Amino acid sequence: MASSFYSIFLFSLLLISSALAKNSFRPKALILRVQKDPSTLQYVTHLNQRTPLVPVSLILDLGGQFLWVDCDQSYSSSYYPARCRSAQCSLSGSTACTTECYSSPKPGCYNNTCSLLPDNTATRTSSDGELGSDIVTVESTDGNDPGKVVSVPHFLFVCGSTFLLEGLASGVKGMAGLGRTKISLPSQFSAAFSFHKKFAICLSSSNNGVTIFGDGPYVFLPGIDASDSLSYTPLILNPVSTASAYSVGDASSDYFIGVQSIKINEKTVPINTSLLTIDSEGNGGTKISTVNPYTILETSIYKAVTKFFIKELSGVPRVASVAPFKACFNSNNISSTRVGPAVPSIDLLLQSESVFWRIFGTNSMVQVSDDVLCLGFVDGGAKPRTSIVIGGYQVEDNLLQFDLAASKLGFSSSLLFRQTNCANFNFTSNA
Ligand SMILES: *[C@@H]1O[C@H](CO)[C@@H](O)[C@H](O)[C@H]1NC(C)=O
Ligand SMILES: *[C@@H]1O[C@H](CO)[C@@H](O)[C@H](O)[C@H]1NC(C)=O
Ligand SMILES: *[C@@H]1O[C@H](CO)[C@@H](O)[C@H](O)[C@H]1NC(C)=O
Ligand SMILES: *[C@@H]1O[C@H](CO)[C@@H](O)[C@H](O)[C@H]1NC(C)=O
Repeated sequence: MASSFYSIFLFSLLLISSALAKNSFRPKALILRVQKDPSTLQYVTHLNQRTPLVPVSLILDLGGQFLWVDCDQSYSSSYYPARCRSAQCSLSGSTACTTECYSSPKPGCYNNTCSLLPDNTATRTSSDGELGSDIVTVESTDGNDPGKVVSVPHFLFVCGSTFLLEGLASGVKGMAGLGRTKISLPSQFSAAFSFHKKFAICLSSSNNGVTIFGDGPYVFLPGIDASDSLSYTPLILNPVSTASAYSVGDASSDYFIGVQSIKINEKTVPINTSLLTIDSEGNGGTKISTVNPYTILETSIYKAVTKFFIKELSGVPRVASVAPFKACFNSNNISSTRVGPAVPSIDLLLQSESVFWRIFGTNSMVQVSDDVLCLGFVDGGAKPRTSIVIGGYQVEDNLLQFDLAASKLGFSSSLLFRQTNCANFNFTSNA
């Protein structure tokens, strides 16, 4: 009698504790897999969203303001529009309100809703959209392998329209913004699970790059923690929005860093350094973008860097330019190293002489054909909004950690030096 009482008691205790464990499972970090689309060179990721859950392909947009998705063809029974002047609306920073939508109610079409401007940052096209929330699910990680799938029931995003998808990789339904706003993916994930306001991107030219929300370790096979030897530089806020459309007073959601000068082969390239500071209108400076496939330099900087690079590589025969690049070389005359073609290193000097981001051949040279390697930088014209936009190719196989609380960027330079790369996160378990 007593023993069966105890076993029932024990059994119910076990039930209670397993229910607790299930509900109180708090992930240390979350992961999104990232693939490079070979035709657009955009980086594509996926979230599961809505009820019933469906996979939604999205362009990874490092400086993007929020998640936006084409709602024109979507259905979900768990979608809630955010009302004008609601708490979610003020969190988003919007002061705009859509009073009426002349169609039957559906995601993206309710009356009296908070409106925002979803932005296709690849084509620089923007439109009106409705702020709403819906469930999303995402894989968690302990830093080593993918773990349990967790859900965020009321994840805020903006409903955009089908025409906004023009110019994005095929099959993609929107963009996943990781920028510096209160409703970007990193902000919402760290708020939902109370983890550090940090995230990292590790892009690959293959199908296995990764974005990790939360703190390290970030372990890549064979057991290398890429978060353990980073250099740091302050993240700079551009007080003027760099979005395609914005309201007066909005700050930029892009991540800017303070490049002071550029060195090639450890020699300073003569450039007009006032282009490297952000002026009162928000022009100039250096930002990082995952939407631009290659680094874009303001014309005078582009010319100076290209000329200097060609001079430093003068032993190698040049060949005809291959658009969009200018400086191209016969690759048979360039040897290989662990970090790519043996060419002059390009350093972006940051807050002091001792802190620099070194770009090796693997990130500077693009193989455009069997025999031709080109310097993978493009000309941004005479008066671009931002003087230097560090693009996707230049950050592949580099780990970049954005620490939003401390407003600093941790960067690894090429992981190839450490005999790993961004495709080496252990995705084997349930790929
Ligand atoms: C919005 O309100 C108008 C007029 O009050 C109504 O005709 C319309 O059907 C409503 N739209 C939605 C999506 O509820
Ligand atoms: C340097 O750039 C600034 C900002 O664009 C410009 O105002 C200035 O004229 C430039 N100086 C030279 C020497 O070209
Ligand atoms: C470049 O490579 C070709 C073929 O390997 C070789 O014949 C030529 O001598 C090389 N030129 C230089 C300048 O190294
Ligand atoms: C990779 O993950 C799988 C599944 O979680 C695990 O069994 C395996 O041991 C991991 N491999 C390494 C090298 O950590």
